[in-house]
Amino acid sequence: MITVGRYIAIEGVDGSGKSTVAEALQLRLEAKGERVVRVREPGGTPVGEAVRELLLHSDSLDVWAEVMLFAAQRAELAKTVVRPEVDGGAWVISDRSYYSSIAYQGRARGLGEEVVRAINERGLEGIVPDWVFVLDVEPTVALERQSDPDRIGREGVGFQTDVRNAYLDLAAAEEKVVLVEGGLDVEQQVDAIMSALDV
Ligand code: TYD
Repeated sequence: MITVGRYIAIEGVDGSGKSTVAEALQLRLEAKGERVVRVREPGGTPVGEAVRELLLHSDSLDVWAEVMLFAAQRAELAKTVVRPEVDGGAWVISDRSYYSSIAYQGRARGLGEEVVRAINERGLEGIVPDWVFVLDVEPTVALERQSDPDRIGREGVGFQTDVRNAYLDLAAAEEKVVLVEGGLDVEQQVDAIMSALDV
């Protein structure tokens, strides 16, 4: 798999604190003189934000429609934002990536991790994260932090536990998938990420 460089994904169960850590990581990289672009999935482009609305606020959605909508917005984001920004010298910090689909749709929804990986990698055409940092938090603790969960966030602790276990397995299998202790304070989580990055 060809990677494009400086493309970082922050992952974790719902309520794991990804956006806070992504913001702190952005500041840390900028303090070193780096240019940083932040995106989120689903979202990050006009098409992506429209698809986000369908994914998170539809009353119900077929599971294969769900996985393919996630993959569709991701392919659009990769080609229109991630690739040009990384080619232009920026770091891209993404709140989620196709590793979310592997964990949520592949494992927790039971569609199969390999088929979900394959659908996504086909659409991404090699634009995959160089690093995937998983903020590891107990699902019960993470869910308590959520005031207004979306359609997928409402699936409950059992579902989030499956998601967490999928991330743990991905971290065990792939060197670029790194677990970060989610119980640490934000700056300590960023320290852990920065020590893995070669900046
Ligand atoms: P997000 O906006 O990151 O919500 P949170 O901050 O609560 O984690 O993600 C929205 C929801 O979409 C979340 O429940 C995770 C889910 N999701 C998937 O199921 N598959 C995916 O591929 C992605 C990107 C998100």
